[in-house]
Amino acid sequence: MEAAAGSSPRREGAVAVHSLHRFVFTVPDVDVAAAFYADLGLDVRRQGRRLDLCTFGFDHRWGSVYEAPGPKRLQYVSFGAYADDYDRITARVRALGVAGDTPHPLADEDGTWFADPEGTPVQLVVSRKVSPAEKSVPVARPPVVGQGAAPSRSKAGSVRPRRLSHILLFSSDVPRSARFYADTLGLRLSDYSGEIIAFMHGAHASDHHMIAFAKSDGPGLHHSSWDVASIDEVGLGMQHMMDRGHAQGWGVGRHVLGSNYFRYIRDPWGSFAEYSHDIDFIPATVDWPARDHPPEDSFYVWGPPVPDDFIINHETARRPT
Ligand SMILES: [Fe+2]
Repeated sequence: MEAAAGSSPRREGAVAVHSLHRFVFTVPDVDVAAAFYADLGLDVRRQGRRLDLCTFGFDHRWGSVYEAPGPKRLQYVSFGAYADDYDRITARVRALGVAGDTPHPLADEDGTWFADPEGTPVQLVVSRKVSPAEKSVPVARPPVVGQGAAPSRSKAGSVRPRRLSHILLFSSDVPRSARFYADTLGLRLSDYSGEIIAFMHGAHASDHHMIAFAKSDGPGLHHSSWDVASIDEVGLGMQHMMDRGHAQGWGVGRHVLGSNYFRYIRDPWGSFAEYSHDIDFIPATVDWPARDHPPEDSFYVWGPPVPDDFIINHETARRPT
């Protein structure tokens, strides 16, 4: 499904990125990553020493994974802008005095580089818009009458996510991170809970969040979230991953902020991949009111209790001092 390809909505007067272009991280064994993301239903491709995370039917490299000793570690995050926004965003970044001239050692595209307040490298590139231009539509199934609608379990199959929806990063100072990404890239605050979590969307139409920040003691990648076509696929994906040995996680449930149905799968490094369905969409014509929500009333509408290990930042927990 690639309904958004070629569609380039713009918010009048906004100089801002349009998409989360890519996230890049390292793991101690790239074969383990290849097996996990293939089980998740991604189109996993090898390019030499690089592992690319793609989705079937959507020609884009959402993530790349490299092998490096030590714990899993977020390396850099790349954002895409329209060509006529790129120079103006770059000028804004330089005016703020945060731009660096040195590309990340794992960089494979030209772009502007800078570091966020947590020290995470950020890249700006000119790219096609890959965030949605309109609300993602659930796959409609015609009603079944007079016979059973559910497949037998052996024929239920697995799930293929349609696209990356967002990533959630840890931050030692969530309001500072949110301000920084707004001031540099023009991301807009969607909703937040005090200093605990903040969700940000693209000015030129995107999901309720393409990136979010959660309180921790330092940087890290908490989860990547992958859009699936139905609530049934959230459950099917959960079951398939359980059958493949990935039983730990959280959900199925429904978030309040973003409204999406979710199942988080614990990955081999203690962080998570999320199946997400029906996340809120913010068009380029809507000024979303950024509201502060009490965490106890805004984390999830329904679902099982949150596992104790859900918000551990393994990247800082094992970071050498
Ligand atoms: Fe998420």
